[in-house]
Amino acid sequence: MTRYPLILLKTFAWIACLAPFTWLAWAAVMNNLGPDPTATIAFTTGRTTLRLLAITLAISPLRRLLPRLGWLIRFRRLLGLFAFFYATLHMLTYVGLYAGFDVGLMISDIAKRRYITMGMAAWLLLLPLAATSTQWSIRKLGGKRWSRLHMLIYPAIVCGVIHFWWQMKPGVLTPLGITVIVAVILLARLVLAWAQRRKALAAAAGDARNDGRRQSKGNSIRATG
Ligand code: HEM
Repeated sequence: MTRYPLILLKTFAWIACLAPFTWLAWAAVMNNLGPDPTATIAFTTGRTTLRLLAITLAISPLRRLLPRLGWLIRFRRLLGLFAFFYATLHMLTYVGLYAGFDVGLMISDIAKRRYITMGMAAWLLLLPLAATSTQWSIRKLGGKRWSRLHMLIYPAIVCGVIHFWWQMKPGVLTPLGITVIVAVILLARLVLAWAQRRKALAAAAGDARNDGRRQSKGNSIRATG
């Protein structure tokens, strides 16, 4: 992709990522957050986190399936960092507005309410990913170790989805949509990783066969000579 369309798309991505925050800030200033402002903030930031995490995870399989979309990789870090931004706003909404900065209450909530435990686990799993999102961290850790660390996005999104289900009243199926989307993305990534592995194994076996043929040909030339 050339420079100008990329700048345009990046600008659009920033605007789209900042839209939920801008809407919340505007609604707060206008006193228009609905009958339960705390819930509105928690719901908007929580759902935005999950959506951004799902889009971030979808980039790799999309690039593999449609190589023309290779440029999408340039958006992965931006989307991942915005996911962490909303996750942190969401967590701080709990700390400030639900728990009123009461550390004792927070500790007892994390210990006793399983959906809070699961949410906290999701946020803690995202923390090292955000902390190592710079080029400097990739250089320092080495590509392989960095990639392995960034696999934490899988348990993080799974914890996020479970947290979504566990804070719902029984019988409410709101989280179903995002659950199906996340399941499809995770399955696509598994299938593509398996296909890549098979291809690599087949290529290695082909190389070994060629080496064997070359060696036996060399032996027979030597024998006839
Ligand atoms: C990656 C991390 C997280 C994700 C993806 C996430 C996602 C969500 C989602 C989607 C909702 C439901 C929104 C709705 O019903 O529309 C929610 C609600 C909520 N989450 Fe999280 N969450 C995360 C972390 C946390 C953390 C760390 C805490 C607190 C320690 C937390 C506390 C809450 C609370 C209090 C609610 C509202 C429950 C209610 O009022 O019924 N979440 N979260």
